[in-house]
Amino acid sequence: WSTCSVTRCLLLPTLPVSSFSLSSLSLSPSSLLGLGALASLTAYWLVYRPRPMRPPCDLQAQSVAVDVSASLVHLRPEQRSSSQECAEVFDTVVLLQGDPSCRRSALLKDDSLLEFYYDDTRTFYDMFQRGLRIAGDCPCLGYRKPGQPYQWISYTEVAEKARLLGSGLLAKGCQPNPQQFVGIFAPNRPEWVISELGCYTYSMAVVPLYDTLGPEAMVHILNMAEISLVICDREEKAASMLENKEKGVTPTLSCLVLFNDFSDAFVERAKDCEVEVLKLEQLHRMPPPELLSLPCALLISSLVSSQGSFVIRQEDVSISYLPLAHMFERMIQVVSMFCHGARVGFYQGDISLLMDDIKTLKPTFFPVVPRLLNRIYDKILGSVTSPLRRALLHYAVRRKQAELSSGVVRNNSLWDKLVFNRIQANLGGNLRFVLTASAPISPTVLSFLRATLGCLIFEGYGQTECTAGCTFSMPGDWSAGHVGAPLPCAMVKLVDIPDMNYYAKNGDGEICVQGPSVFRGYLKDAERTSEALDSDGWLHTGDVGQWLPNGTLRIIDRKKHIFKLSQGEYIAPEKIENVYMRCVPVLQVFVHGDSLQSFLIGIVVPDPEVFVDWAKDRGIVGSHEELCQNPDVKKAVLEDMRAVGKEAGLKSFEQVKDLHLHPETFSVANGLLTPTMKSRRADIRRVFQEQISSMYSKTAI
Ligand SMILES: *[C@@H]1O[C@H](CO)[C@@H](O)[C@H](O)[C@H]1NC(C)=O
Ligand SMILES: *[C@@H]1O[C@H](CO)[C@@H](O)[C@H](O)[C@H]1NC(C)=O
Repeated sequence: WSTCSVTRCLLLPTLPVSSFSLSSLSLSPSSLLGLGALASLTAYWLVYRPRPMRPPCDLQAQSVAVDVSASLVHLRPEQRSSSQECAEVFDTVVLLQGDPSCRRSALLKDDSLLEFYYDDTRTFYDMFQRGLRIAGDCPCLGYRKPGQPYQWISYTEVAEKARLLGSGLLAKGCQPNPQQFVGIFAPNRPEWVISELGCYTYSMAVVPLYDTLGPEAMVHILNMAEISLVICDREEKAASMLENKEKGVTPTLSCLVLFNDFSDAFVERAKDCEVEVLKLEQLHRMPPPELLSLPCALLISSLVSSQGSFVIRQEDVSISYLPLAHMFERMIQVVSMFCHGARVGFYQGDISLLMDDIKTLKPTFFPVVPRLLNRIYDKILGSVTSPLRRALLHYAVRRKQAELSSGVVRNNSLWDKLVFNRIQANLGGNLRFVLTASAPISPTVLSFLRATLGCLIFEGYGQTECTAGCTFSMPGDWSAGHVGAPLPCAMVKLVDIPDMNYYAKNGDGEICVQGPSVFRGYLKDAERTSEALDSDGWLHTGDVGQWLPNGTLRIIDRKKHIFKLSQGEYIAPEKIENVYMRCVPVLQVFVHGDSLQSFLIGIVVPDPEVFVDWAKDRGIVGSHEELCQNPDVKKAVLEDMRAVGKEAGLKSFEQVKDLHLHPETFSVANGLLTPTMKSRRADIRRVFQEQISSMYSKTAI
């Protein structure tokens, strides 16, 4: 309330307090005027006084411990292990198994998780239909040409275009069932959403493709999902698809659909490898086949779009620029915006024009990643150069932060008008809320921006495998340094990581999530699915978390691969690998050891671009493959690695004693990398089992 008292100070001098007395019934014209002024000012203050936001639950108890017996009921039958079937019958067994680190949202009445926020919206398709009912001919998707205002496509138009597109897909041989995968390879634009919805209208599933996947992962995904049809934005993207078909590595691809115009030459080239090329509108004109209007059965679990007192309205506008291929952005669009009949405006596709797009669109909702908020923070601080203005800024921020901690979130205080006005105008001047996710944000930046932007800033935490979100900060919680409490659709527990000295009984451990929003597995990959999902249906995130006393979760670490050598030294192989990667001839490296051995060994993939020349400089000539077999080359690589390791401060037990040179790169396609380009350690170990044991037996002798 401190800013409020500042406001009152400013108002008070204008109040004719002295001339006002209740006992004096004879009012002079001047005192009448005074009375009127007081009354209107009081009324003004009563209407406009800052009201604290009422949080939907006690902020000191945002989550509650779950009685694990109740949670078992929510497991899908195929996820129930036999021990749980027992547990359900014998309640006492469960009480013994009770896990105090398992918590759920305090917004729930009991331990039953929320599956659907609205009973009639169980799928993405339903959510859009709900928006259509609310908003009908009102704007849905917006786009703009350089320097022009936004143009809008209405909900009705989007639904109609999507239906036509969907039936066009059927005419092209796609099957109306969730096993039918359609690729979309394009940046964010209205056609992306229309294509996605077109697929959902006929129960097909969408596979988003994006440039950073890299060519190998792309081919792997296309084959895994047996994709025959890919929707692209322009010819260059489609050409990269065609190249794979020409090389014969994506045999199932038979149709490319483009948003933009394309050349006749391209059509010819595609024809030569039996790929049909169509423009999106052509798909609209396909005669629909017989089996139409299947109700969409695509079951995607819901995420709660409104947390307690905070609700998304039809007037809300969000800016779309984060990659649609990621769950975060799609959840925002579908669950928050479309489900409520709100609007989404797309950026022009050029991140350097984003600020101009924002000023034009004037969004009320700005989804961000911490990197962007850090840039805004740096920019604000960088723009105030004079010491006086800097002092004023910091003073104003402190006053606003004090007000925030009493629950008042506003953008019309004196400080907003004096100091923060320009900053807010740069973001369109209409912001109601911001959501940051995908990486932790610094508490300093978060608190600073909450004060300067004068709007709600939520922080969320999750991953694609739990449909983007599993915890979310509570409306009204101004504090930073945590990721909020579990969403009403998720249960979160912590699991011991003895190697890293984290124990659930001390309130920290690996974050595990369970509930209707947790995925069912990776496509055609039972093995990896069982690595991510345990037999009780808990998703193991690999992040290390800690419960805070007020029921919020703090992310404190990432689970690392750690093991002990036989003499008792702890080894973190990824740290050592990162050091060895700096060696010129090394492209990829895997460091191995275990508690039965006293030293480390490595599997090294030499960099094909430099390896032959690098060896030649050392007087050894041969092909890439030959060099990998050459013991002298191996010795030279080992020496180079140990020198780099020493320089980087690796201890002697952290250095590899022997290595195996492998000519073929670890990739997603050969199963040695995850789609996010991390080593699949267990698989690498298995594949190189023979080399590993031979190195240990040789060196031991
Ligand atoms: C202040 O916030 C309200 C919504 O809470 C919004 O309508 C208004 O445009 C905002 N003003 C500025 C300057 O951001
Ligand atoms: C919740 O607890 C954390 C750690 O104790 C603290 O930093 C934060 O301010 C608390 N939040 C609220 C709303 O009290």
